[in-house]
Amino acid sequence: MFHAQLLTLFPAFFDSPLACSIPKRAIAAGIVTVECIQIRDFALDKHKKVDDSPYGGGPGMLMKPEPVVAAIRAAREKQPDTHVVMLTPSGGRFSQAKAIEYRDMPGITLLCGRYEGFDERICDYVDEQLSMGDYVLSGGEPAALSVLDSIIRLLPGVLGSAESAVLDSFTEEGILDWPHYTRPEQFEGKDVPSVLLSGNHADIERWRQEQSRQRSRR
Ligand code: ADE
Repeated sequence: MFHAQLLTLFPAFFDSPLACSIPKRAIAAGIVTVECIQIRDFALDKHKKVDDSPYGGGPGMLMKPEPVVAAIRAAREKQPDTHVVMLTPSGGRFSQAKAIEYRDMPGITLLCGRYEGFDERICDYVDEQLSMGDYVLSGGEPAALSVLDSIIRLLPGVLGSAESAVLDSFTEEGILDWPHYTRPEQFEGKDVPSVLLSGNHADIERWRQEQSRQRSRR
């Protein structure tokens, strides 16, 4: 059983994605548990304030350290062996290799920010900082969802054997997948490559490997 915790101001963000398709099946099968922890519940004042303006001036608001650190502590108490990851554009780049690394852990806690980011001191309370790429999202939630989804599909028993075989051939070599075609044979003047219709499995395999190599090189 893999335990995921999501630290967020917007737990509802995750409702429908986790209620669809593969994540839904994995949760129903008891392969993964997902718990949202509302950061605002850890705000100290009566207005439940979680953000404040930056020292030194400048636009926007920052996530305050007290509620975020209290929420991280609560997550570590619930799951003492969890790996706490802050989603931030200034973190290390997420990759399939990272997804595999997380899949092999007992669980993960994904910390989602809003506003202009986190008070820098919060970084001392997380195990890792992770970015989805060089672009700015309106919060960490879409990033956390991508990380969680990519872990879930790697957990044993989540994908059928046919699906996971395809995934393995893709991830093992770090090479891109080959192009795929289904019916019809002709679509708006574009033909399915004839080798795929030949029935010659050795030729098909050679063609696929060559296409993968070409794509990856490009
Ligand atoms: N929060 C805002 N933008 C982000 C990004 N690119 N990756 C991770 N977290 C983020």
